[in-house]
Amino acid sequence: MVKDEKIVLTGDRPTGKLHLGHFVGSIRNRVKLQDEADKSFYMVADIQALTDNAQNPEKVRANVLEVALDNLACGLDPKKTIMFIQSEIPEIAELTVLFLNLVTLARLKRNPTVKSEMKDKGYGEDVPAGFLTYPVSQAADILFAESNLIPVGEDQLPVIEQVNEIVDDFNRFYGETFKRVKHLVGDIPRLIGTDGNSKMGKSLNNGIYLSDSYDEISKKVMNMYTDPNHIHVEDKGKVEGNIVFTYLDIFDENKEEVLELKKQYEKGGLGDVVIKKRLIEVLEKLIKPIREKRKEFEKHPEEVMKILEDGTKKAREEAKKTMAKVKKAIKIDYF
Ligand code: TRP
Repeated sequence: MVKDEKIVLTGDRPTGKLHLGHFVGSIRNRVKLQDEADKSFYMVADIQALTDNAQNPEKVRANVLEVALDNLACGLDPKKTIMFIQSEIPEIAELTVLFLNLVTLARLKRNPTVKSEMKDKGYGEDVPAGFLTYPVSQAADILFAESNLIPVGEDQLPVIEQVNEIVDDFNRFYGETFKRVKHLVGDIPRLIGTDGNSKMGKSLNNGIYLSDSYDEISKKVMNMYTDPNHIHVEDKGKVEGNIVFTYLDIFDENKEEVLELKKQYEKGGLGDVVIKKRLIEVLEKLIKPIREKRKEFEKHPEEVMKILEDGTKKAREEAKKTMAKVKKAIKIDYF
């Protein structure tokens, strides 16, 4: 790595289509950074997806294409970003094994991201070892390419912190080899779900997807909670905690009009349907071009797979270079 190079890397687990939470948390930054970075990587994290889907490989396989499509549709450009598949880079697995010696079981169990995901999935002590250790494999995802800038959603910050602990330990035990990495979280670090849950999640069934049709968007917005005490149009309404206004604050570009609507809503005389219809149009304006671009790519899945194949070849070259350095540092470079 050349000094002060900006190397961006990020990825998605292929477990489902991507939603607005991914878009505001990370995808928007990825698309922007590919123009600023010296190198930019995007990884389909199929091995990580398998850590809690071991019995469901078909799901992971099918979603490799879906997450690649979502990212291409949002403007990730294979000319600027090396797009690749994690399982095709065996050096990531090799690095993971070596990094596993640098973390303790107690530390893994303390990681807040993993802890909360384990709770959501109802794991307890019966967590697959691969899942508990995914932050270690994520360190390998990041460091194989010597990347140093990682666009992620806010939920991933404890993982990035753990990556840096691995960097520090590695350098201390084996000599200065890796640089600490920085995260970059989107302007909206965490998007609430359409049900008001603090997080929009694939498994929580509360997401608006980047591939959703106009009808799907409408249905989801129409079902959003507003203010339960706002029954008649004349009633005074509450803006805080009102999901529709939370979304308008984030996605509606006309801040002045939103402010005006809020005032009206609080005074009474503004119906829920009016603000919901507005939100539907705002979201449609954002999602329509993404959906349409996605449809174009969907016509040629073989071209998308070719993009991933070409990207994987390039990523593999980086991986080999880093692996040679690592083996030397750990003194396991025998022949
Ligand atoms: N853990 C990330 C997520 O769930 C996906 C991911 C895997 C990732 N490897 C990565 C993100 C490396 C950034 C860098 O969203």
